[in-house]
Amino acid sequence: MAPDASRTLPALGHGHARVDGPLKVSGAARYSSDYHFPGLLYAVPVGATIAHGEVASIDDAAASAMPGVRKVYTRANIGRFYKPGKSGYIDEARPPLDDDTVCYYGQYVALVVADTFEQATAAARAVKVSYRNVQAPDVRMQLTAEEKQTTDSERGDVDKALASAPVTVDQTYTTPPETHNPIELHASVATWDGKAFTLYETTQSIINHRDVMAQMLGVPKENVRIVTEFLGSGFGGKLWPWPHALLAAAAARDLGKPVKLVVTRQMMFHNVGHRTNTQQRMRLGATHDGKLVALRQDFLYRTSRTDHTKEDCGEATAFLYSTPSLKITSGCARRDIAPNTAMRGPGAVPGLFAVESAMDELALALKIDPVELRLRNEPTIDESTNLPFSSRHMKECLTEGATRFGWAKRNPAVGSMRSDGKVLGWGVACCAWMAQRLAAEVSVLLNADGSVRVASGTQDIGTGTYTMLAQMVAHDLGIAIDRVKVVIGDSALPPGPLSGGSMVTGSLVPAVAQATGKAVEQMLQTASGHGAFQGAKAEQLAFTDGRVHLRSSTPDEGVPFADILGQARLAHVEGKGSSRDSFGDAESKKYSMHSYGAHFVEVTWEPAIARLRISRVVTAIDAGRIINPMTGRNQIEGAIAMGVGMALFEETQYERRHGKAINSNLADYVMTTHADAPQIDVLFLDYPDTKLNALGARGIGEIGLAGFAAAVTNAVHHATGVRVRDLPVKIEHLLTSTVV
Ligand code: MOS
Repeated sequence: MAPDASRTLPALGHGHARVDGPLKVSGAARYSSDYHFPGLLYAVPVGATIAHGEVASIDDAAASAMPGVRKVYTRANIGRFYKPGKSGYIDEARPPLDDDTVCYYGQYVALVVADTFEQATAAARAVKVSYRNVQAPDVRMQLTAEEKQTTDSERGDVDKALASAPVTVDQTYTTPPETHNPIELHASVATWDGKAFTLYETTQSIINHRDVMAQMLGVPKENVRIVTEFLGSGFGGKLWPWPHALLAAAAARDLGKPVKLVVTRQMMFHNVGHRTNTQQRMRLGATHDGKLVALRQDFLYRTSRTDHTKEDCGEATAFLYSTPSLKITSGCARRDIAPNTAMRGPGAVPGLFAVESAMDELALALKIDPVELRLRNEPTIDESTNLPFSSRHMKECLTEGATRFGWAKRNPAVGSMRSDGKVLGWGVACCAWMAQRLAAEVSVLLNADGSVRVASGTQDIGTGTYTMLAQMVAHDLGIAIDRVKVVIGDSALPPGPLSGGSMVTGSLVPAVAQATGKAVEQMLQTASGHGAFQGAKAEQLAFTDGRVHLRSSTPDEGVPFADILGQARLAHVEGKGSSRDSFGDAESKKYSMHSYGAHFVEVTWEPAIARLRISRVVTAIDAGRIINPMTGRNQIEGAIAMGVGMALFEETQYERRHGKAINSNLADYVMTTHADAPQIDVLFLDYPDTKLNALGARGIGEIGLAGFAAAVTNAVHHATGVRVRDLPVKIEHLLTSTVV
C-alpha cells in the first residue's frame, strides 16, 4: 500500500494553494464585522472636529431623543478605563474619553449606541460638541528647543571622514504620512455574558489584544476571549488595539447587549494609526573607486503629543554596507496629529528610500554602475555589532537579479534607452529586514479518524498562515496537507505569535516540530505492546508517513495511526510544543539575523504627455527557506504593488485649520490598482538560515516593500534626469525633465 495515497506534493517548498481559499472565495470565511447576535446594537463614535483644544460641552439631548437610540456615552457616563500598564502593547495608550483635551482631529469625544447602524450614524451627527482654546494644528517638523536629536548608532569619526572624503553626497529626502488601507475596515463586535467578554476583533495579535483589553477593562485575562478567524489585511495598522475596541466592549457591558462598532474608512485616517512622515538628511563619503568611508543619516519623524511610536529610519542602515565610519541620529517632533503606528516594514521602508536613493546619487557622482557600487561595499560581518551574519546573500540577490533583469544591457546615460517610442529608465535598490522569532505554543492532535488538528493562538492576516501551518505539520508527520485541520484565531488556544515583523512563520517552526514530535511519541506509546506490536517497546517503533511500524521493518508494513487509535479506543493523542523568542537568546547574541533582497525596476516615460509608468520589476529575495513559494510570491508581489503606491501615489493630506485628512477615502487617497501593476518577477534564493530555526525559514511579509520606492526614483532619474527626493513622485516633478 502506498504510504499516503492522497499525498502528491512534498509539503514544504511547493506552491500549495491556500487551504482557506474556498472559504474566502465562497464568502463562508467570517471576518470580525460578519458576526451577528440576537439583540445586537450598533455603536458609532463622534470624533472631534479640531486638532488642538478642549471639549467645552457636549449636548446630546437631541441625539438621545432620536429613534432607536439606546444611549449616548461621553466622558461623563462611560465609566473609567484603566491604563494599559505593562499588560501588553498599545500605541494609543491614553484611554478613550479620558479627559477634555483634544490632541488630534477625529479623537473620539462621544459614542452613540442605537438599534441600527443608520440610527446610530444619524444620532452621532446630532451630538453637538463645543470647544474652547482651539488652535490650528502645529505640525512643524523642525525640532523645538526641548526636542533633542539623539544618536542611535555610531562607529568611527563620521564627520572627519566626510570632511576628507574624495567624493560626497549630501541630500535630504522626505516621505509623506501614509495611511493603511486594508480592504477590511477595523471592527469590534463585543459580547458580555455578565462576567466575561468575547470580543470579535480585527487584530494581528489576539493574545496581546486580550491582555490589553483585560487590563484596560479591569477584568482577569481568563474573562476575555478574542476571536479573529480571518483578517482582511492589516499592514501593521491592526497590530495593536485601538480605542474603538474599548468603547465597544464598555458599551456591551453597560447595556448587557452585543455591540458592533465598525470604524468607517474616513475615521480610519485618524483613529487607527498611520505611517508618519519622515525627513532624512543623508551624507555619504567615498573614495574614487567607490569604497564608502562615511555614512551619516540624520532623520526626523513626527508623532502625536500623547503617544510615541518611533519610525526608526535607521532600522536597516547600520549593517547594510561596509563603512569604517557611520552615524545615525533621530529626532521626534511631537505635534497635533493622531498617534502613528507600524506600517509594513516600519522604519526600514522610509529609511531605505533615503539610503538607497543616496547610494544611487553616489554611483552617479562616481560614474560607477549602481549594482557594482553596492557589490564593492558588501560587508563580511555586521559592522554595527561586529557579529557574523547568520546567513546573508545580498551579493547573490544583486547578481542573480541583475541577470534575470538584463541589467548588463543598461546604458547609464540619462534618457538614452528607448523602446516602443518610450524612454526607459532602469533603477536598482537593495533591501533588508529583521529576522527574529517570537515565543509560540502549539498543540497537535492525532485523531481517531486519521485527521490531524494543529492549534495555536495566532492568526492569519491574509498572508497564508493557515496553509503554512498545515504544510509544516504535514511535513513533520509525512502526511498529505489536506488531512491537517488548522485551528487559529482564538485567544483561548495555546498562545501563539503575533502577526508582525514578518515573524510568524519563523516563530512557529520550533514549536510545531516539538508538538508533532510529542504527538508521535504518544502514538508510539499507545501502539507498543498491542495488536501488531505485541511485545514491541515504544523505542522499537517508528512513525513514518502517518504510519507506525517496527524500526526493523518498512513503513508500508506498518499500521495507519487511525487504526492504532481505533484499537485503543482513544479519540486522539496530543503533543504540545513551545518555543521561546529569539530576542536576547544565545543564538541571536551570536549572529546578526536579517533577510535581504534587491529590486530591479523599469519605468517608461513619455515626455510628450508626461506619462510615467512602472513597467517591469525583478525582485530577488534572500529570506531563507521558502515554505510555500505560491503564498510567498504573493507576499512579495503584494509588497511591490504597495511599493508602487508609495513611490507614485500615496500621501495623506491634512487641511491646515483643523487637521482633517482631506483625502480620507479610496477615491482621493490613491493606491495601486491592477492597471498600475507592473510585470513582476520574484526570484527566491534558497539559502536556509538554520541559525533562526531548523527549517531555515525567515519571514517575507515586509521585506518586499523596503527599498522599492528608491528603485523607482532611481529608475525615474535614469529615464528623465530628474531626481525626486520627496515622495510620492508627481508629474509636477517630472515637468522639469529635459529628456525629449
Ligand atoms: Mo507589521 S508593520 O509588523 O504588521
